[in-house]
Amino acid sequence: MSWAAFRSSKWFRLVWIIPALLVAFVAVVLLANWLRGIPAVADFIEQYPGRDPANEAAEPGFPAWLAWQHALNAFLILFVIKSGLLIRTTKRPAAYWTRNNTGLLRTKNEPVRISLNHWFHVGIDSLWLINGVVFYVLLFVSGQWVRIVPRSWEAFPHAVSVAIQYASLNWPAEAGWVNYNALQVFAYFATVFIAAPLAIITGLRMTPGLAERWKPLERIYPVNLARLLHFPIMIYFLLFIFVHVFLVLTTGAINNLNHMYAIRNDESWLGLIWFGVSIVVMAVAWVALRPSILSMIAGLGGKVRR
Ligand code: HEM
Ligand code: HEM
Repeated sequence: MSWAAFRSSKWFRLVWIIPALLVAFVAVVLLANWLRGIPAVADFIEQYPGRDPANEAAEPGFPAWLAWQHALNAFLILFVIKSGLLIRTTKRPAAYWTRNNTGLLRTKNEPVRISLNHWFHVGIDSLWLINGVVFYVLLFVSGQWVRIVPRSWEAFPHAVSVAIQYASLNWPAEAGWVNYNALQVFAYFATVFIAAPLAIITGLRMTPGLAERWKPLERIYPVNLARLLHFPIMIYFLLFIFVHVFLVLTTGAINNLNHMYAIRNDESWLGLIWFGVSIVVMAVAWVALRPSILSMIAGLGGKVRR
């Protein structure tokens, strides 16, 4: 877009956001540093440095299954979000899918016809859901849950302290191998135990086929409520992922990536290498999952019509 075209486009009206964000950012940093200069606040931060001992697992470190779960989750959610956004932005779907009404899946009525984007979204969601259920089970069986669930009232002052430290740009010491800081614990808890279940119950309410069966619920749980909530939940996920990956990469990337991608707590390159491999796999799948290939896969379980 040329400058003249940009100048007259509707986007130009949003340009003021950039200086406004910069001013807000500087104001927050100055405020946090001013706060840290007050002796009472400095004492508070010393008393609550950020990590609540109640969030320490029995043994430091991560189990190998967590690395797989986490990497698969990152892979799947990329396509959950892509397919969701395709549903939102496609006015006239290029293809529709109708399930083969045979075998175990046979019903009295003909199955509903859905767009290929809906098929893609609900299909990937099902894989994401299975991965999530396995994660929940292993998390509780292994005792790892104590790392990502706030477990004492002290978690709150620790989290406030961490927020002030981040905002002052003088960040708290990292030791994710032993336990996460309280703000991390709250963010992981909100993502795993609030946002994900909400995405599922709002998504299921809208799922073609199920939505009809859930009609008796309309008075207490209208489908429009689900539609209203589902999109902001995606915005939450996007914000979480952005901040999460930003902090992973800016607070000792090599060591952090070793934790979650190579299950080791040292300065080797393995974590970075595995992370790189996972990004390549995502990029290859992104290119491979074109509409023509999706139609082919969808064709295995139903009829695809233009
Ligand atoms: C591909 C980009 C990602 C990278 C590089 C990444 C990296 C990491 C790292 C290094 C940790 C451990 C932090 C530490 O040791 O201090 C972690 C933990 C975690 N990440 Fe990610 N992450 C990514 C994407 C995601 C996504 C998409 C989600 C969820 C939507 C997510 C959710 C979590 C959760 C819940 C934990 C805590 C796991 C536990 O201990 O049970 N991550 N991530
Ligand atoms: C099991 C989990 C999920 C199910 C069953 C599900 C199901 C659905 C369905 C049926 C729709 C179509 C709604 C319509 O036709 O108007 C939809 C739309 C959408 N989904 Fe999901 N979804 C799930 C999880 C997610 C997650 C985790 C995200 C993002 C992180 C997401 C993002 C979206 C978006 C952006 C749309 C378009 C919304 C709009 O048009 O306003 N979904 N989902």
